This record gives sequence, structure tokens and C-alpha cells, in this order.
Amino acid sequence: MTEKNEKTHKTIEQAEQEGKYIRKVRSFVKREGRLTKNQERAINDHWQNMGLNHSNGVIDTQVLFANENPVVLEIGFGMGKSLVEMAKAAPELNFIGIEVHKPGVGACISSAVEENVSNLKVYEHDAIEILADCIPDDTLTTVQLFFPDPWHKKKHHKRRIVSAEFVETIRQKLKVDGVFHMATDWENYAECMLEDMQSAPGYNNLSETNDYVPRPDSRPLTKFENRGQRLGHGVWDLQFAKKA
Ligand SMILES: C[S@@+](CC[C@H](N)C(=O)[O-])C[C@H]1O[C@@H](n2cnc3c(N)ncnc32)[C@H](O)[C@@H]1O
Repeated sequence: MTEKNEKTHKTIEQAEQEGKYIRKVRSFVKREGRLTKNQERAINDHWQNMGLNHSNGVIDTQVLFANENPVVLEIGFGMGKSLVEMAKAAPELNFIGIEVHKPGVGACISSAVEENVSNLKVYEHDAIEILADCIPDDTLTTVQLFFPDPWHKKKHHKRRIVSAEFVETIRQKLKVDGVFHMATDWENYAECMLEDMQSAPGYNNLSETNDYVPRPDSRPLTKFENRGQRLGHGVWDLQFAKKA
């Protein structure tokens, strides 16, 4: 092989290490929204206690929370309003939130501190990388994904976070009988989620009608859901449990 050929036959990892630009399809567009003073203060004062860093690698949840309580993971918590509400209502559970939008992370920490919530920790990072690099297999009791960006246009569907590969990754992270709970107000996304979950091996649908479940009381109404309702949209909840 010539030197030229060697250069053109790189693995993605090699090219990334060498700083070459690799286009990744992500489920978000990084918005550099400005932090409010309150959000900035919340991060500065409480990251030590509530923040988790991708660079620290695989976590041990029992060490992190200093207890053996079941762990709930929420992906894309937005401003964290419903996550903080859920964590406050269930002190017998531990919660980990992942969000890429820094002002959302600041807002979440700020409400958690205000509400005296101590069973919640957060990442400010891409959930796909956190799942791959930080969350051990067979550890989670629940994974929740509420109102993920629907990427309405067909040409953008590849950006949707839910895919066959994603639901398999979630299955690996759940304990047996652990539940993957999704909700969306976009019908076409709900149908795709259902299709991916029905074709995925290793899950039982918890729906009595073999499709969607009614909103469980444990899931508070979110800002996006309220908005969806005002616009006359429906909301679809899906709950699937990991098989033994
Ligand atoms: C439509 S919002 C919904 C927020 C919240 N769950 C709610 O219902 O109000 C979707 C959120 O997911 C976040 N997000 C999208 N892709 C993500 C990823 N790969 N990792 C972490 N967060 C992500 C976005 O930044 C955004 O805040």
C-alpha cells in the first residue's frame, strides 16, 4: 500500500484523534443560550455536589449516592422542572439527569437546591456518549425520555434520538424488569417509537392494548406537554420493561 493510500484508509477513531473533522448526526443543535445570573451561580456553587463529568468515566451509583436505592435516568430534561418534581416526590429513588443545554442544567440545579432535593445528579453532555462511556450495564430501574426533539421534517428524521440502536443501548443499561418510559406529543414520532420498541428483542410492552399507556401519575405535566395540549395535540406515553 502506498503512503497516500494508507492516509485515506483511516478508521473514524484515528481520524478523530488526529483532529480531522468527522460529521456526526446528533439529536440536538448546541444553542449557546446565555446563562442567567441565577443559573450561573447554581452551577458554580453546586456542581461539586450535583454535577457529573463525562471525563470521569464509568460511575458506581452506590458510591455516588452513598446508598443502594434504585436509579432513574432522565435523558434531555430541558429546564429540569419535572425531573426535580419527580425527585422530590420520590426520595426513595436516586435520579440522574442528562441535558446538553447549559442554561437548562443551571435551571435544574437551581430548582433542586431551592426544593432541597438531594437525590439528583446531572450531566451536561450528549446522552449518547454518557450511555456509552459512563453508565454500567444492568443498573437502571427506569429510563425516561420525555418529549425528545421530534425533528418534524422527514429529511431530519435521522436526527431523532430514538432508533433501533438507541433502544438496544437502553435495554442494556436497564435491570431486568426495569422500564423504558417515553412520551411525545408528535404522532409520527410516537408511531416510530412504537415500531422500534416492538421490533426490539428483549422488551415487554406494558400497554394493555399493546401500544400506548395512559400517562402515569408519576410523570408530571411538562412545559412541552402543556403547549401541545394548547395546540390540540395528543400525547402518547410508551412503557416497556426489560425481559429476563
Ligand atoms: C423538546 S426538549 C424537551 C425537554 C423536557 N424533557 C420537557 O419535556 O420539557 C428536548 C431536550 O432534549 C435535549 N437533548 C436532545 N438531544 C440530547 C442528547 N443527545 N443528550 C442530552 N440532551 C439532549 C435538548 O437540549 C432539549 O432540552
